[in-house]
Amino acid sequence: MDAIRIRGGRPLRGCVRVSGAKNAALPILCTTLLSAGESLLRNVPGLRDINTLAALLRFLGRKTEVGKGTVRVFEEADPCRPEAPYELVKQMRASVLVLGPLVARFGRAKVSLPGGCAIGARPIDQHLKGLEAMGAAIELDRGYVIVKGPGGQGRLHGADFCFDLVTVTGTENLMMAAVLAKGRTTLLNCAREPEVEELACVLNKMGANVQGAGTSQIRIEGVDELQPFDHAIVADRIEAGTFMVAAAATGGDVLIERAPMEHLEGFISKLRKAGCDVAREGEGVRVSRAGSLVAVDATTAPYPGFPTDMQAQFMVLMCLANGRSAVTETIFENRFMHVSELARMGANIDVRGNTAFVHGVSNLTGACVMATDLRASASLVIAGLVATEYDTDIRRVYHLDRGYERIEEKLAGLGADVKRVKDAPG
Ligand code: EPU
Repeated sequence: MDAIRIRGGRPLRGCVRVSGAKNAALPILCTTLLSAGESLLRNVPGLRDINTLAALLRFLGRKTEVGKGTVRVFEEADPCRPEAPYELVKQMRASVLVLGPLVARFGRAKVSLPGGCAIGARPIDQHLKGLEAMGAAIELDRGYVIVKGPGGQGRLHGADFCFDLVTVTGTENLMMAAVLAKGRTTLLNCAREPEVEELACVLNKMGANVQGAGTSQIRIEGVDELQPFDHAIVADRIEAGTFMVAAAATGGDVLIERAPMEHLEGFISKLRKAGCDVAREGEGVRVSRAGSLVAVDATTAPYPGFPTDMQAQFMVLMCLANGRSAVTETIFENRFMHVSELARMGANIDVRGNTAFVHGVSNLTGACVMATDLRASASLVIAGLVATEYDTDIRRVYHLDRGYERIEEKLAGLGADVKRVKDAPG
């Protein structure tokens, strides 16, 4: 297994370019199931999760070619096999995003239930309730969910559906199900994330009629057929945010090119309160810090609130701030796995319920730590960049490879002493 080895203590300086957004690319790849013909996605990040979804599309009977920054998906002559097996779904929960398009286009789907993951139980009850409202019959069979359109394999019908809670992939799945349904669908209490808006933009390019994405109410008028598309994926706001924290934590000065500043407002306001300078520069954002860090509280919330996907990284900043901050996680029940690893590097964090009370320390010390999930891994990388005395070895870095393209190269370009170590102990 690969590890990342960092000799910390160097302020990051220079300029780094953000890759395409993983969480926008994944649902958009699934929309290729909604039409015949060839679709082309550009600015796709080279990530393990993209390869996993490409493998799933191939399993479903799609010819899928992953190139450098592109993915091309064709419909083969063979009928689609609307089945997502456990072996692929267990590697990546987002595989469940094939459910909506498969039922919409083929009238049925059999998809493995994703099961829990490191950050929480993450059920898909809202996805299923919404499909039921559109006339689908749901059955559970040996770990698989089998969804059938009306009459066994018929076309879904439009419906009014209100989510019990805000779910990003739930909103995306039901949007993709509704675009080919008969009649109008109104979805209430929808996720407002930029990735949902991006998906709506692609669906509309395909000939769908989706209105209101980016607000909590989305209206979809079903159509009979959709066309293939060509689309360049938006820049990754979470990767951008991660580099912002890395620049700030090391007391550096970094221009993050293509950082979608407007999609990070909730987070940027916290960075500024913590004593960081954040300024728009051309199509990017410059982040620097000269003075000391100030403790600020943060509570995660659905967009446009403080993103749960930035909580772990922000916590590292708070580990180095003057005073005590409270970091509260409200989206996932188990997203503090980085706390015990950060403690091994000298952080002083006390978890009570879903709040981590972070008592700032003057510095972190390099250590051997274990990555547990994607964003936790990113937080350990940032901690490693700051840490002194010893090198930091981050084990199980495959988590990082799911969501950060060439991270060690990008950090090295900013002056970090970082390298990938092959065949490190797991
Ligand atoms: N939930 C339910 N029932 C459902 C759906 C969700 O109870 O049917 C709960 C979840 O268990 C969780 C909360 O609702 O407690 C929110 O989950 P959501 O469904 O919004 O998460 P997701 O769609 O599975 C996406 C991102 C995550 C990101 C979350 C929250 C993708 C592929 N994944 O997950 O990204 O953390 O939204 O913003 O878009 C990451 O990139 O590291 C990552 C985990």
